[in-house]
Amino acid sequence: MADQKHSSKSIMYMTIAVAVLLTVVIVPFTIKGNTPSTAGSAEDAEVRIQPVARFELKVAGPADAAASAQPKDGPAVYASVCSACHATGAAGAPVKGDKAAWAPRIATGSDALYRSALGGKNAMPPKGGAANLSDDEIKAAVDYLVSQAR
Ligand code: HEC
Repeated sequence: MADQKHSSKSIMYMTIAVAVLLTVVIVPFTIKGNTPSTAGSAEDAEVRIQPVARFELKVAGPADAAASAQPKDGPAVYASVCSACHATGAAGAPVKGDKAAWAPRIATGSDALYRSALGGKNAMPPKGGAANLSDDEIKAAVDYLVSQAR
């Protein structure tokens, strides 16, 4: 009886020992195995927290061609450039159509808004990062954003 108790205790300890061993052996492998994907998502995160840089990369190609072809109207500039931030509120941008967010900005007057959009403001780069666009194209996009928030 006592022996049996003893041996079932030993089995329990053995089981625990094996479990600990497995954990010690397997966990580092699991972590190692995850390292590439962890690094990947860290890269993703880096991309995500750099909307400005990513945005400039994205715009450089197609917008160049489009700008030399013909001037874009407000909605087109918004769709290709400004929506990167103003559709989602990325980088703290006031979201298109969010009247509460835009009201105090609209109250500063169109000229102030043009100046912000053309010259940049805090997280917003000059011309939203699309330096190849004309001032009129940017102003048209500002007018469009304002019209959507009235
Ligand atoms: C990289 C992100 C980003 C892009 C792209 C971007 N904006 Fe912005 N925008 C912001 C942020 C952030 C703010 C808020 C700035 C602040 O008040 O701190 C802002 C604010 C504004 C404002 C209000 C400025 C003010 O004085 O209150 C206007 C107008 C505006 N953006 C227009 C545009 C237009 C037009 C475009 C496209 C040509 C554009 N934005 C592209 C991030 C962006």
